Amino acid sequence: MPTKVRKAVFPVGGLGTRFLPATKAMPKEMLPVVDKPLIQYAVEEARDAGIEEFIFVTGRGKSIIEDHFDRSYELESVLQERQKDSLLQELHASVPKAGTIAYIRQQEPLGLGHAVWCAKRLVGDEPFAVILADDLILADTPCLAQMTAMREEKGGGNMLAVMEVPKEHTSRYGILSPGKETGNLIEINGLVEKPAPEAAPSNLAVIGRYILEPGIFGLLENQSRGAGNEIQLTDALSSLLGGDPFYGLKFDGTRYDCGDKIGFLEANIAFALNRDDMKGDMGDIVKKIANKL
Ligand code: UTP
Repeated sequence: MPTKVRKAVFPVGGLGTRFLPATKAMPKEMLPVVDKPLIQYAVEEARDAGIEEFIFVTGRGKSIIEDHFDRSYELESVLQERQKDSLLQELHASVPKAGTIAYIRQQEPLGLGHAVWCAKRLVGDEPFAVILADDLILADTPCLAQMTAMREEKGGGNMLAVMEVPKEHTSRYGILSPGKETGNLIEINGLVEKPAPEAAPSNLAVIGRYILEPGIFGLLENQSRGAGNEIQLTDALSSLLGGDPFYGLKFDGTRYDCGDKIGFLEANIAFALNRDDMKGDMGDIVKKIANKL
């Protein structure tokens, strides 16, 4: 059984109701931060972590994502004619190699746990990553690469990206009950989906990067509906505890919740300020607006 993480699952079957009306006819994963769709950041992060196969769990109205990761000959010939070489190269580089990208339909948005379960046959019997594109992370070393490196050091097991959140926000996240902490690595003793602040075992929240052993699929198969009447990944993960090693990694970087309007706007400003070609102008704009407040 391979221990290297070679495959990543991108669940993109959600309805994106928090971002209506933008997401009525357009998947939220195609919303651009600065000039790149969220899903492209996710695929690039996976590539940087050594991922070789990209599995998308899609739904109705999401076929534009397939087009985005395909060649566009008409556009390419226009760019060629106009000698826009660097743009052309950029477009080529964003398309995964033929045969490395697969799509499967979720058919009904029954929750993240169900979306991951839909990838079972494409993943097979090996560890895999899950990336939620709407959790966008700005980091010097991409978050998933931090996780795969740490997992290799530990010799395998399940690993979740975690971050500290204000206690009053615990009801928005899966929250972990921490065990032994060594540096930024935390052994996980328990997980609770969206607990009220007074019931939360900590303020350590699970965010949208997971490395999972394939045993999760058997648990998802029989997982009943949980919070929000959806099949929750966190609930199945709770049942997985006590088997393979289970860690949370407090990653270095800042996470932006781009499934939420304010989080998305903040991400656009932060990513623009992080770009050499934009930070000057963007900094001036931010200051000008702040002065008017
Ligand atoms: P969210 O909790 O953000 O749900 O899903 P959502 O439906 O996308 O958005 P809102 O809450 O209605 O605004 C987290 C991730 O899980 C995927 C989403 O696409 C997103 O990447 N997901 C969620 C699925 O693939 N299928 C589902 O049934 C639910």
